[in-house]
Amino acid sequence: MTVQASERTQIQEKNALHLEEIDYVEFYVGNARQAAHFFCTAFGFTSVAYAGLETGWRDRSSYVLKQSNICFVVTSALTPDSPVAEFVKLHGDGVYDIALRVDDVHATFKSAVMRGAKPILEPVTIAGEAGCLVKATIASYSNDLVHSFVHRHHNTEFSPEYVPLSSQFSTPIPELIEIDHIVINVELGKMDGWAKFYSSVMDFYAFQEFTSRDISTLNTALSSKVLQNKTGQVRFAVNEPVIGSGRSQVQEYLDFYQGSGVQHIALRTNSIVKVVQQWRINGVEFLYTPDAYYDGLRQRIGEMNEDWDAIRDLNILVDRDHEGYLLQIFTKPLTDRPTVFLEIIQRNGSKGFGNGNFKALFEAIEREQANRGTLYSIPED
Ligand code: FE2
Repeated sequence: MTVQASERTQIQEKNALHLEEIDYVEFYVGNARQAAHFFCTAFGFTSVAYAGLETGWRDRSSYVLKQSNICFVVTSALTPDSPVAEFVKLHGDGVYDIALRVDDVHATFKSAVMRGAKPILEPVTIAGEAGCLVKATIASYSNDLVHSFVHRHHNTEFSPEYVPLSSQFSTPIPELIEIDHIVINVELGKMDGWAKFYSSVMDFYAFQEFTSRDISTLNTALSSKVLQNKTGQVRFAVNEPVIGSGRSQVQEYLDFYQGSGVQHIALRTNSIVKVVQQWRINGVEFLYTPDAYYDGLRQRIGEMNEDWDAIRDLNILVDRDHEGYLLQIFTKPLTDRPTVFLEIIQRNGSKGFGNGNFKALFEAIEREQANRGTLYSIPED
């Protein structure tokens, strides 16, 4: 190692960000009240806090939705010139902020900026009766996806700016545990820039990499880099499209989202069958996997302590690697634009992403693209 490289490593170590875990994911949406209702009735979240006109805000309203260790926030504009309205006009409903919990917001923010992050919000302390929230925000590799750093002192509430809500319309599903990983779709040629941002600015390290050889069908393909923070609690995958005979699902996303952004959020559970059964009752639609996928699956996967009939009936995908197996399923997009969706994942030893299912997943998405008429054609402006 050269002296220069050694010094650079020391500076980076000194400026480590100490990211702990994902604190919340904030969506900007067209109608937060209705989005909150949808997340509660369809996916089992509970509305626990609210901020808006009644709490003194004038340009936006916001609902905090909780389920186990998963926290989503949905925010919508009250005025047409709100940045939230501008975001939604361009992207439709989508993820604006993946907030990360840290011990020292000032130190993390300073380190991130020293490493090259673009500051969006300098550290602020929001004090209330029970305690206070310290928060700062930086841009990711795109200005329309940001990362807040948050820390709460003596305060178990979301933020003193919000008032507690006792929801009337939740259908709690206690089997969901936490956010497992988040996937970001980026433009052709931008994946390496995003990956470099997360490694050099956000202190992540490369976990896995997939090329079009791993993820392709006859028609479409993508490349992907998986990065995670030092604790292993925060894992992001960055996808970029690969030119093929058809339009990659990533390109379809980029066309309708009008740029890069969060493609899906994977929620971890220890009982995927129960969660999928309940979500289907709630009206959630999942990607369809044909019967042929399940022919010979038992032989391919081997011994597994699961209900095979339920897995087949519910259309759950299964994969095995050298460490164990995983079960996963993907919802259809949450909005009319074919953009963000959710994944449910159950890990029994496997730390992977279901490499064996990439082809089945891609073919399922291509069937949806063909239905939408977007597999080969470009959408009109
Ligand atoms: Fe995933």
